[in-house]
Amino acid sequence: MYRTHTCGELRLAHQGQSVTLAGWVHRRRDLGGMTFVDLRDRFGRTQLSFNDLSDAEVVAMARSLGREYVVQATGVVVERENKNAQLLTGDIEMKVTSLTILSTSQTPPFTIEDQTDGGEDLRMKYRYLDIRRAPVRENLLLRNKINLLVRNFLSARDFVDVETPFLIKSTPEGARDFVVPSRMNAGQFYALPQSPQTFKQLLMVAGMDRYYQIVRCFRDEDLRADRQPEFTQIDCEMAFVEQEDILQTFEELVRHIIGEVHGVILGPFPRMTYAESMRLYGNDKPDIRFGMTFVELTDSVKGCGFPVFDSAELVVGIKAEGCAHYTRKQLDALTEYVKRPQLGMSGLIWVRWDEQGTPASSVNKFFDEQTLRAWAEKWAAGPGDLVLIVAGAEGKTRKALSELRLHLAEELGLRNPKEFAPLWVLDFPLLEWNEEAHRWFAMHHPFTSPKPEDISLLESNPGAVRANAYDIVLNGNEIGGGSIRIHDRTVQERMFSLLGFTPEEALEQFGFLLRAFEYGAPPHGGIAFGFDRLVALMGGDEVIRDYIAFPKNNSGRDVMIDAPSAIAKTQLDELSLKIHE
Ligand code: AMO
Repeated sequence: MYRTHTCGELRLAHQGQSVTLAGWVHRRRDLGGMTFVDLRDRFGRTQLSFNDLSDAEVVAMARSLGREYVVQATGVVVERENKNAQLLTGDIEMKVTSLTILSTSQTPPFTIEDQTDGGEDLRMKYRYLDIRRAPVRENLLLRNKINLLVRNFLSARDFVDVETPFLIKSTPEGARDFVVPSRMNAGQFYALPQSPQTFKQLLMVAGMDRYYQIVRCFRDEDLRADRQPEFTQIDCEMAFVEQEDILQTFEELVRHIIGEVHGVILGPFPRMTYAESMRLYGNDKPDIRFGMTFVELTDSVKGCGFPVFDSAELVVGIKAEGCAHYTRKQLDALTEYVKRPQLGMSGLIWVRWDEQGTPASSVNKFFDEQTLRAWAEKWAAGPGDLVLIVAGAEGKTRKALSELRLHLAEELGLRNPKEFAPLWVLDFPLLEWNEEAHRWFAMHHPFTSPKPEDISLLESNPGAVRANAYDIVLNGNEIGGGSIRIHDRTVQERMFSLLGFTPEEALEQFGFLLRAFEYGAPPHGGIAFGFDRLVALMGGDEVIRDYIAFPKNNSGRDVMIDAPSAIAKTQLDELSLKIHE
């Protein structure tokens, strides 16, 4: 037996017992006549003590221990003289009588401490050492906890975990596919699933009624803090449901998770249409932990002689409450923020009201005090407030102000990670026009049902058709999305045709689904959560990397195993592949 207890387990109640522990040497201190070793495992840390007057061989061995050596120690639990309130085992220590070195270790390339000196690349290269650090380990434990919460919740509601294949044919979810060459079918490729979308729908046709899977998905897209090329979804589908059933079921799931993890019981989640979200927040995943909603000035400032406003499609601003004291330097920094190439605005206009309520602005030349007082009403701005306004082409301007709003909120400390503000965004447009490709794309995916009352507009005014689609947003992050599906072959065919598929192409790519719809397809719908995002937010982060055991870096590489990498010529030949030099 390697151990009788873990390193997080011993308390005063064990005093006098002879126990054996095994773990990693976290730290060693040699103090006049005594040697102390902090022994660490997943469960905690325990102090081992060695008295120089006892067994000389054991003491010599203890003094030879380096950081991260793996040892087994047997001894007696005694009460500590200097208790450590920070440690669960801080009331006791083990007086060691016998010690075995199970494994030696080189000096680790970074310190295994909560705050490490290791840079990102080094931590990823030695991820197994990084995971020994408590913060990363805790993240993985949180992930496990939420995984179990989800399974128990869904399983109690008759959802069945069904595995779907990884070697499939391309499913259009809007990203590029990762492909896998087939040795047995020369020149042909599987695609890794961007999601199990079509399979879960087929499971509904198959009568499984309620499906879920905590499943890996693969998307070859540019990485961001909240995106990985392989990531995990909580993927769900239900038969005989309407949108409302889905919203109720999964709102409850999120409430359950937040309740269990943080002890916060949330009320009903607010709902907002896509149009409203774009108008008030400039994006479809609003952070509603704070206000600063958009107010549009476009119509009231047209023709006032200020060229920036006169030529703008949209003039819109937000109020930063109590920020009238912002210095010139701070305002310049905010201006530079919206002028960055990513946002590309030509400038930022500010108006502020002093403690007496007298306004001043960066456009004093064009707008008199009376006009500025009228603006104050639109934002309900009062003494001490600041309003920031941008103007330009509609899409770009909304996006810039939306980013500025988040940036400012961050600066003002309004984005508290311990506060949870979920909401549903509903009524997404079914389609979006892509100027480059010069065609319509499905905003969610091609299997999403139009709102029945909008179906008649499909051909005549596709851009106006709303979808039975919904996103769930938490603290400004899209944590999930789904829709009620088309379950009628004719409507599905009309949809493919709108997306530019010829009937032959639609049959070739999706014949299996169209065919299934001819054998009794129940009405159905579902949702998928980004599991990594959900877990990260529960951990108080928006970056998902440290909630994944072995993530990819920003170039999509696993720097630990060095993937992707070249393969041998023989392997290429076997797969009938040639690399173009
Ligand atoms: P969607 O494409 O919206 O829907 O994906 C669902 C959720 O998955 C998360 N997500 C990601 N997380 C990390 N890295 C990525 N690269 C990444 N891409 C997406 C997001 C997103 O909300 N089949 C549909 C679901 C359905 O209709 O039921 C789908 O995949 O949190």
